[in-house]
This record gives sequence, C-alpha cells and structure tokens, in this order.
Amino acid sequence: MMGLSQQTQFHSESPHMATNSKKILILAGDGIGPEVMTQVKRVLGWFDRRRNTGFETEDELVGGCAYDKHGTPLTDQTMEKALAADAVLLGAVGGPKWDNLDFSVKPERGLLRLRKDMALFANLRPALVFDALAEASSLKTELVKGLDIMIVRELTGGVYFGSPRGIETLPNGERRGINTQVYTTSEIQRVARVAFELARKRSNKLCSVEKANVMESGVLWREEVQKLGDTEYKDVQLSHMYADNCAMQLVRQPKQFDVIVTDNLFGDLLSDCAAMLTGSLGMLPSASLGAADAGGKRKALYEPVHGSAPDIAGQGKANPLACLLSASMMLRYSFDMGEEADLLDKAANNVVARGCRTGDIMAPGCTLVSTSQMGDEILKELDRLGA
Ligand code: IPM
Ligand code: MG
Repeated sequence: MMGLSQQTQFHSESPHMATNSKKILILAGDGIGPEVMTQVKRVLGWFDRRRNTGFETEDELVGGCAYDKHGTPLTDQTMEKALAADAVLLGAVGGPKWDNLDFSVKPERGLLRLRKDMALFANLRPALVFDALAEASSLKTELVKGLDIMIVRELTGGVYFGSPRGIETLPNGERRGINTQVYTTSEIQRVARVAFELARKRSNKLCSVEKANVMESGVLWREEVQKLGDTEYKDVQLSHMYADNCAMQLVRQPKQFDVIVTDNLFGDLLSDCAAMLTGSLGMLPSASLGAADAGGKRKALYEPVHGSAPDIAGQGKANPLACLLSASMMLRYSFDMGEEADLLDKAANNVVARGCRTGDIMAPGCTLVSTSQMGDEILKELDRLGA
C-alpha cells in the first residue's frame, strides 16, 4: 500500500528529534482553515486518548482574522508562542476581504513572518497520488498512478525576502517595482543537504532546479549543489534542470522525478503544478523545517498546500485530508511518532479507497461527504485500525 510513510521518512544527523514535550500551537487562520483544523483537533484528541500522546494544544490567530482583531496578521505575542512551541500547525490565510489592505499587513505577511522568524528554510512538499484518486488527475491515469515525488523548496530566501524591494517613483513620474533574487552559499547548502538526505531515504535521486541560463543566483545554486554532491553525497544521483523545463517535464512525465530541490519562487510554482498531478490540492500536506539544534530538534510548521478557498469557506465542503496529512507529518518529523503517522496515513488511504469523498475529489459511484463527515470516517477508521 502506498502511504506517506517511507517516502517522507527523514532523519537528520540525529535520528531522535522527539523530546517529551509536545506543545502544539494551532493557527487555524482564515477561510476553510478553521473547518479543516477542527477535524485535525478531533484526530489529535483521538491519539491523546488512545495513545497517551500528551499533546498540549493552544489556539491563536493568524492572517486576516488576526488583522481584524489586532490590526496585524501576526502579533508579537503569537510569534513568541510559535517560537516556544514544539510544532506549529497552520490552516490557511487570506481572502478577498483583506485583498486591498496595505502590503505590510496583508494576511500572507503573517505566514511569511512565521517562516522567516522561525528560520524554516526547508519546505517539504510531497506530491503523492493515492491509488484510488489516480483518475482524478487532469493527466492520464497511467502517467500519475503510483506517483510519489518530494519537492524541497527553499523557504526563507530568494526573491521573497531579498532587498532592495519596494515600489518607487522615478523623477519622470513613472513608477518602478523592485524585488531582488539573492542566495548565499550557506543558504543553498543547507537546503540542498536536507534534499540529499531525503533522497538517500528514498531512491537516491535528486534533481536540482534553477535558471542558470539567465540568472547568476541560478549559476551559484547549480555550482554549490554540484559541489555538495561531489564531496558529501557521491552516492546520490544528482541532475540539474532549468525551471521552465521542469514545469514542462512535470506534466509530460512526472514519474521521472523523485526528490526535487529548488528555490523559493520556483518551488512555489512547481509545487502547485506537482500538486495538481495528484488530482486535488485538497490532498497535499507540507512541512517547513528549520535547522536541527544540539539535541536534534528542529523548529517546524506544518500546513496544507491549499489556500483559504474563500469560495467554499464555511459550507462544510472543504477537504480536511491535506491538513490531517500535515498533522501526520508533524507526528513523524517533530515527535518521532512514525507508527502513529503511518496509522493516520493509512486511515486516510482506506477512507478514500472506500469511496468516501469531499467535492474536490468526488467521482461517479463514490459517496459525497462533508468536512466533518470526512473527520467522522477517519476517526472510525482509526478505531478500526488502532484497536
Ligand atoms: C504557498 C503560498 C504562499 C507562498 C503565500 C500564501 C504567501 O502560495 O505556501 O505556496 O507564496 O509561499
Ligand atoms: Mg504557493
């Protein structure tokens, strides 16, 4: 059976990231965030009752809802709580209500501050096709059946954070918008290391993606990744690809890839593209990890790849599986609870395989369920599997 288990297993230098403390900060955010997070809380409650996991959860606001209450998408106090937590679980941020706010207080700034201040430089985005959903993909079933790729996106550098940035008015009255793509050796190396380590746990294949044909930062990226491959990871089969070609190859023949490592902006684009291969954005989890401390523990934030989906928010239509699978990644990476993570992945697989579907993955002959009914089914399946 295919699950998120083997392919996302990732042990850093120190295999034991877990400590006894399991403080989880929950930031449900905007749109469908709160609805899907409600299901995650029910599942965390199940593990607490049945497996004595000892989770301590606390809720805070992020995004538009935080702006409405506090005038900022992330308060300093919430930022401190995120830094002190063992893991942060996030739902989604943003929505049309806040689209016209000043850039500095847009909901997205809350998420970007969390990533930056927690130094979460490695964003793991698995794109995994559930067997039962291979037909939901916009690509031909045979191209995606069994697909299992991992995109490692650099998350705290590049054009998202580079300076100078801004919009200025020129002497002739014309306006100019500026952003800067910038990477240093160490920024490239640390994210590449995460990707090489992951490749070793999977099929020992890594594809590094940039645009070295037009960008100096891409030339540096390619050279540094190659250097690391030549010195520390000779056993890993390393290839390089231009980002535009990678986008094309992802829809032409996605199974040629295993682990992909790329910068912040290309990773943003390519991960959405890879996500859709799986049939629905509603299925994809992600983990954002920082550097390991002396005890091997990493700061970490887990969030579904989908956004706040304002068009369906509050209607019980959202698919909670991406957020649930993000919680599973948390169990695995932050708490070293591989067995529990496997259990949750398996429950999600089984429920979908039985034909239980939210609207985004609905197919003929299947049963349409609401967000909370999907949660009910997962809990029932956990009872069955974990009895
Ligand atoms: C993502 C999102 C974010 C990004 C937005 C919401 C800031 O698209 O996580 O992929 O661009 O990184
Ligand atoms: Mg994105």
